[in-house]
Amino acid sequence: MSTLSLFDNIPSGVEQEIADLRKQLQHHNYRYYALDDPQITDAEYDRMMQRLRELEAQYPDTVTPDSPTQRVGAAPLSAFQTVIHEMPMLSLDNAFDDEELLAFNQRILDRLKISGDIEYACELKLDGIAVSLLYRDGVLVRGATRGDGTNGEDITQNVRTINSIPLRLMGNGFPTVLEVRGEIYMPKAGFNALNEKARAANEKLFVNPRNAAAGALRQLDSKITASRPLEMCAYSIGWVEGGQLPDTHSGVLASLKTWGFLTNRETEVANNIQQAMKFYRRIGDKRDQLPYDIDGIVFKVNSRKLQEDLGFISRAPRWAIAYKFPAQEESTILLDVEFQVGRTGVITPVAKLKPIFVGGVTVSNATLHNNDQILKLGICYNDTVVVKRAGDVIPKVVAVLTHNGGDKVVYPKECPCCNNELKKEIKIKRLKTKSNVVENAAIYCSAGFECRDQLTQALAHFVSRDAMNIDGLGEKILVQLVDVGLVKSPADIYELKKEHLIGLDGFAEKSAQNCIDAINSTKKVSLSKFIYSLGIPEVGQETAKRLSDELGCIENIIGLKPELLTYVTDVGSEVSMQIYEFFSNSDNRKMVDDLLKVLDVQQSNVIGSKFKLAPTLANFIVKLSIPGVAAETAKAIAKKFSLNDLFFISSFELSSLKTAKGVKISTRAVLGVLEFFEDLENREYVESLENDLKLMGAHWDQVRIDEENREIGSLEGKVFVITGSFPEFKSRGELKSLIEAQGGKVSGSLSGATSYLVIGDGGGGKRNDAEKLGVPSITLEELKKLIDRI
Ligand code: IVH
Repeated sequence: MSTLSLFDNIPSGVEQEIADLRKQLQHHNYRYYALDDPQITDAEYDRMMQRLRELEAQYPDTVTPDSPTQRVGAAPLSAFQTVIHEMPMLSLDNAFDDEELLAFNQRILDRLKISGDIEYACELKLDGIAVSLLYRDGVLVRGATRGDGTNGEDITQNVRTINSIPLRLMGNGFPTVLEVRGEIYMPKAGFNALNEKARAANEKLFVNPRNAAAGALRQLDSKITASRPLEMCAYSIGWVEGGQLPDTHSGVLASLKTWGFLTNRETEVANNIQQAMKFYRRIGDKRDQLPYDIDGIVFKVNSRKLQEDLGFISRAPRWAIAYKFPAQEESTILLDVEFQVGRTGVITPVAKLKPIFVGGVTVSNATLHNNDQILKLGICYNDTVVVKRAGDVIPKVVAVLTHNGGDKVVYPKECPCCNNELKKEIKIKRLKTKSNVVENAAIYCSAGFECRDQLTQALAHFVSRDAMNIDGLGEKILVQLVDVGLVKSPADIYELKKEHLIGLDGFAEKSAQNCIDAINSTKKVSLSKFIYSLGIPEVGQETAKRLSDELGCIENIIGLKPELLTYVTDVGSEVSMQIYEFFSNSDNRKMVDDLLKVLDVQQSNVIGSKFKLAPTLANFIVKLSIPGVAAETAKAIAKKFSLNDLFFISSFELSSLKTAKGVKISTRAVLGVLEFFEDLENREYVESLENDLKLMGAHWDQVRIDEENREIGSLEGKVFVITGSFPEFKSRGELKSLIEAQGGKVSGSLSGATSYLVIGDGGGGKRNDAEKLGVPSITLEELKKLIDRI
């Protein structure tokens, strides 16, 4: 039987397949972009799209403008056409405090001559660009900017590229002609990624997500728009013909959602203005955690009948208001730049600004980060600049608006504190490959504790609450102690006598004694606090704790090569270099030695099992930063060869290797490995790394968990219950992470779903229960064998 086809020469089966694919793709596009709840993987989606593209290429007559393949397709424009809005696009009145909001509510009551509660739809005021989308018979026919409210620009080609804008409406019940209005915006994550790319390509950065979104929509070539991460959130309707809409604004939003639009998920209906105020505060509290920028809350009278009764005044509706949050960006004048010396010697430029109210506080200082940022901004004294303060973060200068004739800001050549010549940091990692040379933007003073500012900053960190927590040694006192020469390094604090303090500003007999007591009471200190107190760049409390737990004592950390430091949880290559360099510096070593003499640091020479189990030959190879050799290639190499084999390997042996996916390893990787191991210095260094691991009992041959074994011995899909104690591990948590690292799960209670009960010391009690459930009981040794499959 043959079905009637709309097209000649197209098999009806194909026509049906095309229709089905479009429907499916539209549905999954909606799940993904509007509901944020995908039902299929990206790969499945891509396959469907690919199939549709193939069919459309084969039968070009079937292509319609609303096909999901047609999001980018049009040729670049020479200019945007003007659009006259069927209904003007209005703006909103603003309220800046509760009083103004209550006055708005009162105006409504007065005008309607009613009393009582008004129901409001509460929406986020997204910080983007307003857009109008016109649908005829459910098909998107025009997209336009707001322009001056009466005339906008036709940006149809550009809006078509935005995935959260339906090209064809879903479901039914929509009016024949429907104009949907909403905001096009760029989520913060997309904005950051875009700027990251621009930074890497040395291109001009976007000031904020709103400007980036506006710039993307202004493109005459829609391919550029398509490459920018934009979203559209629908918040109202404009012109409507041939159809009925719900009685409430919230109902309209619900309809828009069913027709395929993204509507904001935070939207709520408040029974009265007091509830609306609560909504404003609740959202205000989480403003910085939202994935997009908002600048206020929009309250709209929910009843559309009341909206009509209230009408408009000049350019804004009487039934809606925008209750603004404090602006997070403002412009002001750059008065001066102060170059401050931090505890590590890094010089930070601090902008001195004409005071400005931004992000809820008055700001007169903001960071300019580093020399790169100064060069990028091309900033001059007296410039009009944009300052940003979001949440509790330090305010920063993010852009220059106008130059006003001042001189260029340049870094000093000498340390503003000690006049020592400043240096630019260039780091060369230990292994000799090109990728191992890192140029850092930081400019620093290398005088160490000879530089007064560095010393006082380091001391202030050392005594601070999360570090040694010495009460009573504020910055003013530290400065005095430094200036009179009593304290030249942190250890000197522990040599202070009461008499020394009595002579200083702010000390009497009693307070001096209290201070000495406070100092002495901190002598016994945990290793993690001690590490944190040292003020190693990039080493916060979390990292200090990891280092302490996994390496046991300071001796094991000092001198540990950076590549091996990265075997500590969450220590990446940048942090490991900082730690290594810190301890390579003789002044720092002396500071640590002196402190160890006066303090009682709680440590033991036991390397944690987590560290011991971390190295595998494959991940060791990755750490060598050989060009072209990432995880998959390293696994393939480790599967076939030992480390020693690599010292004498041939290109023939290497190029025949295949990764687990059956792909040959790249020529770049082959050359990379050969070149790397040809270098005698690299070979010696690798040998020394391997030796260190052996000495620490962390070599893969001893624990036998290389990637290969991990695959066979994987605990993937297995559920373990742990009982009893395991002296080999510092805590149950450590054993748990070992199991999880191998892909297993740990559950708190025995059930039929349990794969094994792991019994430690004194934990036999559960054995019977396990037996009844048919769950095998194993010892720690047996667990290790499960992992190792020795
Ligand atoms: S309603 C007649 N709702 O704010 C009502 N506007 O200052 C007109 N905006 O141009 C707009 N989020 O670009 C409305 N949930 C929201 C909004 C919103 C952002 C923008 C929109 C408008 C401007 C008005």
